[in-house]
Amino acid sequence: MKSDCLKISEGIYWVGVLDWDLRDYHGYTLDGTTYNCYLVFGENKTALIDNVFPGTSAQLWARVKDAFEKEGKDFKIDVIVQNHIETDHSGSLTEFIKKFPEVEVYCSQMAVNGLKNHLPSLKDFEFNTVATGDTLDLGGKTLAFVEAPMLHWPDSMFTMYMEEGILFSNDAFGQHICLSERYDHEIDEYILMESAQKFYANLITPSSMMYMNKLKEITDLGIAEKIKMIAPSHGQIWTNPEKIINQYVDWATGKCKDKVTFVYDTMHHSTQKMAHVMAEGVMSEGVEVKMYFLHEDNRSDAVTDILDSKAVFIGSPTIMNNPYPSLGDIVYYLTALNFKATTYTKKAVLFGSKGWGGGANNKLATDLESAGFDIAETYDTIYIPNSDVYDDCYEIGKKIAKEIKDN
Ligand code: FEO
Repeated sequence: MKSDCLKISEGIYWVGVLDWDLRDYHGYTLDGTTYNCYLVFGENKTALIDNVFPGTSAQLWARVKDAFEKEGKDFKIDVIVQNHIETDHSGSLTEFIKKFPEVEVYCSQMAVNGLKNHLPSLKDFEFNTVATGDTLDLGGKTLAFVEAPMLHWPDSMFTMYMEEGILFSNDAFGQHICLSERYDHEIDEYILMESAQKFYANLITPSSMMYMNKLKEITDLGIAEKIKMIAPSHGQIWTNPEKIINQYVDWATGKCKDKVTFVYDTMHHSTQKMAHVMAEGVMSEGVEVKMYFLHEDNRSDAVTDILDSKAVFIGSPTIMNNPYPSLGDIVYYLTALNFKATTYTKKAVLFGSKGWGGGANNKLATDLESAGFDIAETYDTIYIPNSDVYDDCYEIGKKIAKEIKDN
């Protein structure tokens, strides 16, 4: 097959894969993604930064060959930098080692066991482990390594092309989008930042404190000020790195908008109607509302909006003394994302319709409290809401909106 590479700087090429068809990645909904890899041609050695998801390497090979043709160099990869072990970046490592048996593979110490577990054929392979501060001279081009544990896996690592300040950040700063354009400034700003926010909310939120510590570390090392471009492993390349670095600071420190995200499900439309009326109360105070109906909507979209919301309204009918199952799903997910790591405490309002004994609110409140949410209000009604219930719902929405505007 024929696929073109993209030159992003002198001797540096994007050689990634466009996965147009991927719609779900372990529960994260998306409209395709890219597995970005980069070739760095030094005078003495050529390095491939990361590789791709199993079964998608034909595009990568085609782009790699195109880059070698454009550089007019013999087809030989000397170095592979494996910034992260997850299979969307390591799935073709064995192919490359087979094709270039003398290739040296550089990764963090934490990556070695992971790679050997993911890729059993490499159980006896000798990896070159690197740590923060180590460098590799390719001949006129220097790669510097920075361990980045839990951004987002224990093995994660950044690699910086020092002479021109290109940071190969792997998953950090990525976006799961698949477009014909490669750069940030070539696409719609809303799509770019919304995609980055979804990526942060679903993958980086639990590592928020680690991000702030890492930013301080690379600032102290003098690396941060040298970053001129961020080339992540998914989505668009940042030619304005400051924008996403600062945006990550806002998300990591829990900077929120005057915004409320509703997440609800319904059995016979009662909880649904309560959600809509509560939203009217919130909006009456000029506070933004986002609404997720879990019958149709996906948790990965809901948490994207929860990330920069000051409050979340969780609506669940009671079914057999318990929350509706879809609410259990998202509350477990919110627990895993550990919003406590962002330091801002979000308010939670629990509401819903019950038949007789109830029970959904209490169970959800216990779980959300341990997930770090401040339970600001719980409210339920029996069967079908009447006009008094609707009045209460409106007032609850209004009250919470007033409180978050003051906070
Ligand atoms: Fe894009 Fe953690 O893999």
